[in-house]
Amino acid sequence: MFDRLARPLLRALDPEDAHSLAVKALKFAPARRPPADDPRLAVRAFGLNFPNPVGIAPGFDKHAEVPDALLRLGFGFVEVGGVTPLPQAGNARPRVFRLEQDQAVINRLGFNSDGEAVVLGRLAARAGEGGIVGLNLGSNKDSPDRTADFVRLIEAMAPVVSYVTVNVSSPNTAGLRNLQQAMVLDDLLARVIEARDRVTPRAGPTPVLLKIAPDLTLTDLDELVGVARARKIDGMIVSNTTIGRPPSLHDRVAAEEAGGLSGRPLFQLATRMLAETYVRVEGAFPLIGVGGIDSGAAALAKIKAGADLVQLYTALVFRGLGLVAEIKAELLRELARGEAERLSDLVGVDAAAMTAEDWPH
Ligand SMILES: Cc1cc2nc3c(=O)[nH]c(=O)nc-3n(C[C@H](O)[C@H](O)[C@H](O)COP(=O)(O)O)c2cc1C
Repeated sequence: MFDRLARPLLRALDPEDAHSLAVKALKFAPARRPPADDPRLAVRAFGLNFPNPVGIAPGFDKHAEVPDALLRLGFGFVEVGGVTPLPQAGNARPRVFRLEQDQAVINRLGFNSDGEAVVLGRLAARAGEGGIVGLNLGSNKDSPDRTADFVRLIEAMAPVVSYVTVNVSSPNTAGLRNLQQAMVLDDLLARVIEARDRVTPRAGPTPVLLKIAPDLTLTDLDELVGVARARKIDGMIVSNTTIGRPPSLHDRVAAEEAGGLSGRPLFQLATRMLAETYVRVEGAFPLIGVGGIDSGAAALAKIKAGADLVQLYTALVFRGLGLVAEIKAELLRELARGEAERLSDLVGVDAAAMTAEDWPH
């Protein structure tokens, strides 16, 4: 109800102000327990038990202010962050742009973050609450050693989170995406996995996931997946925002803004990259599919392209937080139609066929 009343108001505001208001409202949302999810939606991945496969993508709760309110809204998991070791302001505003007609957003936030110490305090305070809360790892703008940033964050935060994501795919921090190159990535993952193993005795098991850009070439992807498999990471997330601008975009003015594009126009490219990743991973670890999900059908398409789990963000800006319940209901209806008994039976069934299609534009 609040959601329906608030949305037109929020849409009239600058996107970033609207977002801050939404987070504030969530802080005051009643702490009612949600009804338990239908067991047919449950997913086991990375050694964790997810009550349902629909997560909220990082960027929404960058500073871990409202993870429990988001879990109560029915998300199967919440990924907070990206968090950087030291607090930093990010790029100058305005830095988030809505493309209304395209149901898309362009952002160039550049890792605005409250920093490790503040976020650690918040996550430690709710650590006993249960629910799956992952952490998206960022790197300070002026960091001399980005890998050292990831290592430091893992050492500090692993005890209070369910998993960590090595984010080498945000387009708004100079040089970050270069970490996706095989040689560099190999060293990065070696150091990250070593750090994770070092903290395991006091933190318990902490899966390490790798989040990639949708703008890689397939040759890059071949090498990247080879490195990820050799270093035995626990999973991959496909994908972050794109620096591309599909010719189909209607809002040509906003499309000129620098930054990463998310939402509906990202769906085809991100889903194709997911299928391409799935066929290369050959079941070595699970994948999370993200990019342009705005319905149960879109979530199901990600699952069929190879995702065990999905995440979304941009569609929530246009459709409201109630979308998560709609998506779960649609997934259950799909199962009831008899196509499969469990969602896991559908993971990757379309991947091979998708990789044979023309490249999406
Ligand atoms: C405003 C904004 C901030 C974001 N911040 C992050 C971030 O800090 N780390 C990250 O890995 N992805 C970040 N993302 C990317 C999302 O997590 C997601 O990968 C992308 O938006 C595609 O999903 P969507 O189309 O459902 O939004 C951000 C996206 C938006 C729109």
